[in-house]
Amino acid sequence: MSKSAIIIGATSGIGKALAEVLAGQGYRLGLTGRRLPLLQEIKESLAAEVFIEQMDVADVPETEEKFKTLIEKMGPIDLVIISAGIGHLNSKLDPSLEIKTIETNVSGFVVIADVAFMHFQTQGKGHLVGISSIAALRGSALAPAYSASKAFVSNYMEGLRLKALKANLDITVTDVRPGFVDTPMTQGQSMFWVAPAEKAAVQIWQAIKAKKVCVYITRRWRLIAWLMRIMPNWIYGKI
Ligand SMILES: NC(=O)c1ccc[n+]([C@@H]2O[C@H](COP(=O)([O-])OP(=O)(O)OC[C@H]3O[C@@H](n4cnc5c(N)ncnc54)[C@H](OP(=O)(O)O)[C@@H]3O)[C@@H](O)[C@H]2O)c1
Repeated sequence: MSKSAIIIGATSGIGKALAEVLAGQGYRLGLTGRRLPLLQEIKESLAAEVFIEQMDVADVPETEEKFKTLIEKMGPIDLVIISAGIGHLNSKLDPSLEIKTIETNVSGFVVIADVAFMHFQTQGKGHLVGISSIAALRGSALAPAYSASKAFVSNYMEGLRLKALKANLDITVTDVRPGFVDTPMTQGQSMFWVAPAEKAAVQIWQAIKAKKVCVYITRRWRLIAWLMRIMPNWIYGKI
């Protein structure tokens, strides 16, 4: 029987590119996002069995219900990828933008990750993948909530990985940390070492196959990660 995967945030960018890669690998797919017409368009474009579900992850109670229903409809799920996320450059510290980021990237992430983990625990195995960011490693003056939300995502995944380990569960948790990827989210930003979404998706798929704990996308962003970790505050503050 084909493997089944659900991608949260599959209407554009990295999530959409991952849907294309997984369809090519013979997966049955569950795809979600807020934009229903895009979900329908993607479903028609893929040569795979595709289930779609419109959901706004910032609405936690509705997301919990809809995600559980999608799992019931599809049957046992092997892989859940959480790509849904937003980021705002917020130099004026508009609290509503910061809070919206937290609702989507933190609360939305937690509800999906928890339901997926419990589903995997019940069925005895599974793989959870969260798209965090290189931004998880340090604070950001331009987008404080975004980098803090990604630190939460990476740390939360470590917690779930330890929970699986301590209970001796066959559950893999992969923390994906992209650098810059060319997607609607990054339009108009000044960037370097930018990867096309398709290349990022192929490298994420390779990390999934290898059951990696943590991966930088593209691979050379490991170097930036290392620099970010060792850089003293007085240098980091001048960048
Ligand atoms: N691009 C980069 O350089 C980069 C770097 C590091 C990390 N990332 C992370 O990669 C992930 C994917 O981003 P991307 O670059 O592919 O951006 P994108 O093209 O804007 O895709 C974001 C996806 O998230 C979904 N989404 C956003 N808010 C949602 C909500 N409230 N409820 C449900 N779905 C929601 C969007 O779908 P709808 O709008 O249809 O809801 C869309 O499918 C994000 O978590 C982002 O933080 C990106």
